[in-house]
Amino acid sequence: MVQTLNPNKALWEKGDFTRIANTMRGSGESLVNSVGVRTGMKVLDLGCGDGTTALPAARLGADVLGVDIASNLVEAARRRATAERLSNCRFQEGDASNLEDLQDRTFDLVVSIFGAMFAPRPFDVAKEMVRVTRPGGRIVMGNWIANDPTLVAQILKTSSAYSPPPPEGFVSPMTWGVESHVEDRFGKAGIAREQISFARDTYVFEFPGTPAAFVRDFSEYYGPTMNAFDAARKNGRADELQKDLETLFEAQNTTPQTGATRIPATFLRVTVSV
Ligand SMILES: C[S@@+](CC[C@H](N)C(=O)[O-])C[C@H]1O[C@@H](n2cnc3c(N)ncnc32)[C@H](O)[C@@H]1O
Repeated sequence: MVQTLNPNKALWEKGDFTRIANTMRGSGESLVNSVGVRTGMKVLDLGCGDGTTALPAARLGADVLGVDIASNLVEAARRRATAERLSNCRFQEGDASNLEDLQDRTFDLVVSIFGAMFAPRPFDVAKEMVRVTRPGGRIVMGNWIANDPTLVAQILKTSSAYSPPPPEGFVSPMTWGVESHVEDRFGKAGIAREQISFARDTYVFEFPGTPAAFVRDFSEYYGPTMNAFDAARKNGRADELQKDLETLFEAQNTTPQTGATRIPATFLRVTVSV
């Protein structure tokens, strides 16, 4: 049987996102502490990666299901939950654009932190998130913001200067960081504007090495940056991309400590009352 390649899945299975996620654990935990997770609450973490937000939610006593398109990250999440003996935390492979394995009106809280924003077909994603949330429940999304001056949008901007143009019809994940698009997508899923609130929030990347070493981790382990380096290498421009990213990471680094990197990045926090 011929298997067709899902580029969205291949992108996130490339490398090892755990290397980057390790630098985001503190912010993941703070975010979960701020959303009012309680014992027994049914929580879906969509695009959960290796469990940066799923594990803290389970530690607070929620009944957590993490869904992610990348099989290596689902495995990594399971290993992390097992190591902590968290039996109230399950993980499965799935696509945020089509949650066919999940029943309607199941979850008290659907969390997706820089996860569902990367799925194709954003209108389907919004519809699916609303469908699996129970009436009276909430959806909380964390979305990077197009053209924001902080780290993640700037990595994307720099990388895109070295990459071929995206295929026709490609919808940038960063459009999830634009309020009007978010309202449109949830609007088509039956959610009124008044049910959606927006806030600017901050994630802090904390890396135990220099900014240049942190760039190297992105170039070796983070799928989107790996792809940018692959494209740059083909044009003999990999060193140039490395330098541009080092300049960016050094400029954004806020710690005076030598051999350490601490970079805050702004995101759009979206809360939907279903
Ligand atoms: C930037 S990572 C964030 C992971 C995690 N939420 C965290 O905070 O560490 C993006 C995640 O979204 C997942 N993802 C991308 N497209 C997806 C899709 N269509 N359905 C489900 N997960 C997806 C990736 O596999 C990856 O784990």
